Amino acid sequence: MLRGFSPFGDYPYHAIFDECFTPLQFTTLHGRRAELVVAIDGPAGAGKSSVARAVAEKLGFTYLDSGAMYRCVALTCLDWGADPDRSGEATSTAESIEISFDGPEVMIDGVDVSEEIRTPEVSEAASKVAVHPGVRAAMVTEQRRLIEAGRYVAEGRDIGTVVSPDSPLKVFLTATPEVRAERRAGQTGGDATEIRAAQDERDRRDTARVHGALKAADDAVEIDTSDLALDEVVTRVADLAAERGLA
Ligand code: CDP
Repeated sequence: MLRGFSPFGDYPYHAIFDECFTPLQFTTLHGRRAELVVAIDGPAGAGKSSVARAVAEKLGFTYLDSGAMYRCVALTCLDWGADPDRSGEATSTAESIEISFDGPEVMIDGVDVSEEIRTPEVSEAASKVAVHPGVRAAMVTEQRRLIEAGRYVAEGRDIGTVVSPDSPLKVFLTATPEVRAERRAGQTGGDATEIRAAQDERDRRDTARVHGALKAADDAVEIDTSDLALDEVVTRVADLAAERGLA
């Protein structure tokens, strides 16, 4: 349903966010969804998507690309002329759209946007909308709803810390900034220097924000993928899943 922009404008959404996730409600949610999520977090270019997809396939779990959801909010902001930097506009946009997945396809209100959400403009705007607590609250609620319904390998920035803190396996993938930018340039054919500059800016926003900041959960297994091939990382994560009785 289209609800239009918030009458609260730039009301401090962290207040709403904090209310939505009181410890009581959080504990209740915990109990229901714990065992079935493998959480894979880390910065752009660390290999999360490829690893999470491959691990999901190996384990027979469903893959959840949480970043795609922030990208959907960003794309809609750009389409509607909403300012991704303004909390009220971005939050109303997030609350006004229905994001769904059909295999590898990502949809906004039933329309396939799998390709449109991968442009550099959308990447930049996604990193901006992801700062706002109201946007995060809407996405986290939806992600929890999805993962409650099955077995998931979910990837993002805050899966192990916020979305599913009871995950039995949390992996935090890293790689040097140079390697990450080179990988992204290899995938997109873009200029490595420009990609590195945009990546640094997104890393800065991801780590500095108050809610859902990019960081490893205390009990996450950290893997530096700089010198590892994709299948080596996949094997390590799959072995960890087997050790923990998930495979
Ligand atoms: O893989 P890449 O970093 O290019 O992007 P992504 O995973 O598709 O995520 C797009 C943006 O959404 C990131 O820049 C993050 O700022 C944000 N994001 C987030 O805040 N929380 C998540 N769980 C996933 C993504």
